Amino acid sequence: MLHFTEVLTLLDNNRYCSGQALVQRFNVTRATIHNCIAKIESLGISVELIRGLGYRLMQPVDLLNHAEIQSKLSSQAANKLADIQCLQEVDSTNRYAGELELPQPGEFSLVLAEMQTAGKGRRGRQWVSPYAANVYLSVLWPLQRPLHEAGILSPMLAISMLTALGQLDVSGLSLKWPNDIYCHNKKLAGLLIESSGEINGGCKMIIGMGVNVLMSQFENVNIDQQWTDMYSYTQDWQHSRNDVVAKLVDSTVSTLIQFENNTFEGLVEIWSQWDLMKDKHVELHSGQFVQAGVARGIDSDGCLLLETSKGVEKISVGDISLRARV
Ligand code: BTN
Repeated sequence: MLHFTEVLTLLDNNRYCSGQALVQRFNVTRATIHNCIAKIESLGISVELIRGLGYRLMQPVDLLNHAEIQSKLSSQAANKLADIQCLQEVDSTNRYAGELELPQPGEFSLVLAEMQTAGKGRRGRQWVSPYAANVYLSVLWPLQRPLHEAGILSPMLAISMLTALGQLDVSGLSLKWPNDIYCHNKKLAGLLIESSGEINGGCKMIIGMGVNVLMSQFENVNIDQQWTDMYSYTQDWQHSRNDVVAKLVDSTVSTLIQFENNTFEGLVEIWSQWDLMKDKHVELHSGQFVQAGVARGIDSDGCLLLETSKGVEKISVGDISLRARV
């Protein structure tokens, strides 16, 4: 059966493609082409139809391409890549990656999707994942160090994501504990790190990253917090989503290697440089529990340092937000 992506890859925003040409190309009926176009439009991609001329995309569509991604990877990452899968649609790349066979120690597998139907955010939230708009990727990594040492990966990988996005000229970047990437005070990207397997080695780490790239081109996006995308804060946007993926993967792999070799230095200082909440009056939310205090950065284990009337407390789980009234 004809998949809508086969039609989509032939459409362009600069020229019309006739329905008849598509019928002949795929040897299908007009109704099949019509259904594919309807599916494309249902994903938020506008298609113009002019009688006598044919179909044209109203805007260019930037699709993922695994060969292009591989060609853009650093040699360090390319040499360690065991497997790459670019899916059209999946419930969650993290869920999918968790079911793959674990690569050899020191290697990683990569799962990407054009869209997620049940993208997972932290703390049970949903990650809105429209088609061909953003980056949804999961790195599957065989953890060699004991699981209890992996908590520090959360701030390390947030720093490495921010570094990658900075290399792509996004302005106004900052970090919000535990591992959110903000841009001009709005959420740009997030990390969901999951693990399964043995606690003393041989453990599966699934590092899920969601980055808003071209989200602002989509109408009716339903997200319960202020958000932005790379496109809105990059002058002369020239990048493809494949560029974004390659930079994120390079940076992630380099950080994972530093983690395994225990050579990552200056975590507390680097975090402090980008810390959105540094010295701000905040509220910490953890389940039903809310605690007020002043955010004083993180410690070398990646815990939030929250100054309250009782002194400075180390917090390992929760969400922080600015306090409305102090
Ligand atoms: C957050 O809440 O900030 C974390 C968001 C993580 C979203 C990414 S998208 C790719 C991967 N697959 C998922 O289901 N979630 C992560």
